[in-house]
Amino acid sequence: MHTMAESLPPFAPSPLAPKRATGLLSGRRILLGVTGGIAAYKACELARLLRAEGACVQAVMTRAAREFVGAASLQALTGSPVYDDLWGARVDDGMAHIGLSRDADAIVVAPATADFLGKIANGLCDDLLSTLVLARRNERCPMLLAPAMNVEMWAQPAVQRNVAQLHADGAQLLGPAWGEQACGETGAGRMLEPTAILEEVIAAFQSKVLQGRRVLVTAGPTYEAIDPVRGITNRSSGKMGYAVARAAREAGAAVTLVSGPTRLAAPYGVRCIDVLSAQEMRAAVLEAASDADVFVAVAAVADWRPESATTNKIKKSDGAPPTLALVANPDILAEVARLAEPPFCVGFAAETEDVIDHARAKMRAKRLAMVIANAAQDAIGADESELAIIGETEVRTLPRAPKLELARQIIAAIAERLPPTAA
Ligand SMILES: Cc1cc2nc3c(=O)[nH]c(=O)nc-3n(C[C@H](O)[C@H](O)[C@H](O)COP(=O)(O)O)c2cc1C
Repeated sequence: MHTMAESLPPFAPSPLAPKRATGLLSGRRILLGVTGGIAAYKACELARLLRAEGACVQAVMTRAAREFVGAASLQALTGSPVYDDLWGARVDDGMAHIGLSRDADAIVVAPATADFLGKIANGLCDDLLSTLVLARRNERCPMLLAPAMNVEMWAQPAVQRNVAQLHADGAQLLGPAWGEQACGETGAGRMLEPTAILEEVIAAFQSKVLQGRRVLVTAGPTYEAIDPVRGITNRSSGKMGYAVARAAREAGAAVTLVSGPTRLAAPYGVRCIDVLSAQEMRAAVLEAASDADVFVAVAAVADWRPESATTNKIKKSDGAPPTLALVANPDILAEVARLAEPPFCVGFAAETEDVIDHARAKMRAKRLAMVIANAAQDAIGADESELAIIGETEVRTLPRAPKLELARQIIAAIAERLPPTAA
């Protein structure tokens, strides 16, 4: 096979396709294996997404994959020459089958054919991709496989045996998804979409400190109706709560996010329940709380709501403006913390002054396990924040960073303090 840059070493940065210095995969070297299925065209989009998050991507194709997608596309999108030949002499020492996976931080095979799953489940290696998979160092190079095949192929006992073996061997299987297939049939076997695979790759680099735990998160503002078109709300964007939900899922938890109105897309892999008012949020939280190991209350719940919302729009009359009678909203976090068997409760305190003192007072008053304090005027709506994790006896300050990075540290701190599960 001829490519444009025969002599470049594996994972060489391309002068044509500069990497993003920042990104959720910045500095990661991903070996992208592409095998011979219809979904191979989606590997091009996956390569683009991985690179856009800052990863260095090295593509390796099987002979069959070349029937479905051109190496030139993958080369252009990864910025590196594509490898496909066990016997090629393009890597200096002629040992591409070992060198390529030695350099990789993860191997992602998308799509992974039935044939390929069968080979690697049985330790067979008769081409470059299967050989370098076999030659990888298990402990430092996780392998993620995105199967893609016809529904009947996927259901075959032989394929399911191979899948079970691969699970047992520590491979991570992504999907497949259920839906309409290229052949016109419908069922399980579609490759996960590239955006979903990207999320799984990002998560693969996070330690699974909440594996098997159930985490409940609230996020965003609440909206308290005055009449059908007006209401009381606040400037919470939901970014911090969504980041916490995302970080918890990355850490292996099953996550439910109860969200007030925001402009944010639901985080990948998170069960999202949309609510409007504090009372709706309370109902959704109480339903999910009895099942949760951890509750992180990030939402900026309105403290008060109008005593009653009118059914019709209040007319603007020439007289005096209407007087709003307010009543207190329920304190959802305090209520959950008072349950007979409460989850590990974490509160957020967005204060405008004496941040740590107020946060400590909140922790004691509500009997919380932990409070995260930040300055309200600084954190609301921003992509970055700085905050303090406040426990019974200690305060840990986290310097300014993107909210996802802070959320990952919060999740790590929760995991450290979480009582072990009864085995
Ligand atoms: C048009 C066409 C589409 C195919 N699609 C798939 C597929 O989606 N999944 C699959 O497992 N095999 C599919 N196959 C069969 C594989 O290409 C075949 O098993 C091949 O040997 C796989 O080689 P590889 O695993 O080395 O890439 C398809 C074959 C053809 C001709």
